[in-house]
Amino acid sequence: MIFDKSSTRTRVSFETAMVEGGGAAIFLSPRDTQLGRGEPIADSARVLSRMCDAIMVRTFSHEVAETLAKYSTVPVVNGLTDSFHPCQLLADMQTYFEHRGDIKGRKVAWVGDGNNMCNSYINAAQQFGFALSIATPPGYEPSGLGNISSAVDVEYSNDPKRAVVNANLVVTDVWASMGQEDEAERRHDLFHQFQVSEALLSEARSDVLFMHCLPAHRGQEVEAAVLDRPDSVVWDEAGNRLHAQKALLEMLIVGSAA
Ligand code: CP
Ligand code: NVA
Repeated sequence: MIFDKSSTRTRVSFETAMVEGGGAAIFLSPRDTQLGRGEPIADSARVLSRMCDAIMVRTFSHEVAETLAKYSTVPVVNGLTDSFHPCQLLADMQTYFEHRGDIKGRKVAWVGDGNNMCNSYINAAQQFGFALSIATPPGYEPSGLGNISSAVDVEYSNDPKRAVVNANLVVTDVWASMGQEDEAERRHDLFHQFQVSEALLSEARSDVLFMHCLPAHRGQEVEAAVLDRPDSVVWDEAGNRLHAQKALLEMLIVGSAA
């Protein structure tokens, strides 16, 4: 597990999944590996492939994960890049199915920054067939909007209320992601109208669920009371990281022999 960025959930869930599955996981940070001293990603991929059954990477540029995958001969899992966070979506989709059944045809509202999580929601809308309404401040739209096929029901605006009206699921995330710490103050000024508050949630369906990949900043992207409502499923969502990734690892490592 290569971690160029901080993590609590991703690290602990992957490590626990491997241990409970009868394997082991090794935590690698740039501070104490040759990756941090400039050994090329491609060389590292070839070396790790000879020693490990799978590689998980959390890093900045998505290209790093792509290069690892290109040169690795074992599966490479994206544990978050600046562009995507697909493992979180496995847990989010599992959590929705557990609480409300099939998400196909339902409406999901994304409110806040058009970040890595938002791009992964765009991919999930395509894969699972839900309608996605995204609201971000102007200039913070997700990069993934450019690659959507016309068959996918994705709407974009700068209006959080429009996104949330009639939604079955409302999702948000931090206003400044890892690596954007320098922009945090400016973003807080620009994003305050995009807080998921109880008032905003009242525009959604009465059986709405609220999700946040965590860590959350109470009083910024989410009103503190929202996290504690019965329709907030953020703790199940976090716990499902373990179960979803167990399934992912079993599929990737053991495959059809399982
Ligand atoms: N949601 C998530 O990926 O959390 P961590 O940053 O703690 O891994
Ligand atoms: N968008 C956030 C997600 C953290 C799990 C980040 O990239 O920092």
